[in-house]
Amino acid sequence: MFLGLDLGTSGVKAVLIDDDQTVIATGHAPLSVSNPNPGWSEQAPADWIAACRTAIAALNQPLSRVAGIGLSGQMHGAVCIDSAEQVLRPAILWNDGRAHAEAAALDADPQFRRVTGNIVFAGFTAPKLVWMAKHEPDLFDRTARVLLPKDYLRLWLTGEAVGEMSDASGTAWFDPAHRDWSDELLAATGMSRAQMPTLVEGSQVSGQLRADLAAELGLPAGIPVAGGAGDNAATAIAAGIAGPGMGFVSLGTSGVIFAATDRFLPAPETAVHAFCHALPDRWHQMGVMLSAAACLDWWAQILGQSAGDLLGGLGPVATPGKVRFLPYLSGERTPLNDTAIRAQFAGMSVSHGRDDLTRAVLEGVSLALAENMAALKNAGGGSDALIAMGGGARSDLWLSMLAQATGVPVLRPAGAESGGAFGAARLGLMAATGAGDEVLSQPDIAAEFAPDPALTGAWADALAELPALRGENKG
Ligand code: XUL
Repeated sequence: MFLGLDLGTSGVKAVLIDDDQTVIATGHAPLSVSNPNPGWSEQAPADWIAACRTAIAALNQPLSRVAGIGLSGQMHGAVCIDSAEQVLRPAILWNDGRAHAEAAALDADPQFRRVTGNIVFAGFTAPKLVWMAKHEPDLFDRTARVLLPKDYLRLWLTGEAVGEMSDASGTAWFDPAHRDWSDELLAATGMSRAQMPTLVEGSQVSGQLRADLAAELGLPAGIPVAGGAGDNAATAIAAGIAGPGMGFVSLGTSGVIFAATDRFLPAPETAVHAFCHALPDRWHQMGVMLSAAACLDWWAQILGQSAGDLLGGLGPVATPGKVRFLPYLSGERTPLNDTAIRAQFAGMSVSHGRDDLTRAVLEGVSLALAENMAALKNAGGGSDALIAMGGGARSDLWLSMLAQATGVPVLRPAGAESGGAFGAARLGLMAATGAGDEVLSQPDIAAEFAPDPALTGAWADALAELPALRGENKG
């Protein structure tokens, strides 16, 4: 048996798989995000540990046969600990925009794009530490180590400060071509390698479960904990995406189009992320939009209804409606790299009602994801079909819209929702048994949503209208 733990933004998921990778049980514990200032987004690492305990208990299974653990987690967050391994401040999360000026300043220093192959986005880790140096100099000075969120869970589980390549790629301190920290980039932010965790590959062993914790959680002491992966690479592992061809689209809080590559393919000018995969000698590209299913949740909350109820009466996919929605509730990464841009509805008349606006939200997110797919293609990547992951993948309508917008088939796997946690469990299996890519089968497909030639033209037109809708090209 293997245990996967996924530290998401809205909760921790635990999944227990058997040696043949059958899911035996899943457990969940919710997390909330605090927004102490506009654009800030924080969580207390102690809450992650509490949620992990709850999610593991919720598996409600004997765990004495677990032979390995894997970790997956929200990327880019900064957990700062002092020399006694005490957390110095709440973790600053991936969707926190406070360090936008610091990010822009680092991005203007050419060595960052040259070495990392990526824009220094405001959500990445390095600018957060530069922000701390300026606004919380005492805490910055006491920072003995910076860990990514799931790597903090590893410290709790094993006592080891270790990171892995896929998540390290999103810090802006990392050189994905050489799969190592960059001493130059660290120095450029007043940091050093001594403050970084050591690195392993996602499918390698990073440490062993501490005996006291093992006794408390009902797990065998000393079992290996795999390097694991950032949540997107872990989701790809779950979907069997180890190399070029099949990609995935994720409709979670954030939205992602992900494609694996067999070499490092940086193209920072496209705002595409080029990162290491969680497997040795593999890389990946992804477009990330900051608010995907978050847009539907936001809209449902305003209406005081559940997202499920809102979608109920919408009918089948059609050409995009007259009402348009731009999904930039928290700014946007790919392809815009714009922290200041905000969401909007456009094109409403008195005849439009709730359902038109709900449809517009789904369409707007689908078109933004199609724009991400186009960016991946411009960056030399892309994929022939997309496996749909994340909570939004439950909606037939949304997946049909995505197929029209991207022009490629969108496939819903049976059991889509345990994505990152299942990928983590697979990495736990690989680390514990030494198994290779052969265990990374693609999931059984429960439903396929194909592009309809009668609709794709209208969707392509709507896609082409996005720049004008954003007020670009005004000359
Ligand atoms: C990826 C990213 C998000 C978070 C969400 O670059 O910022 O997908 O990993 O958890």
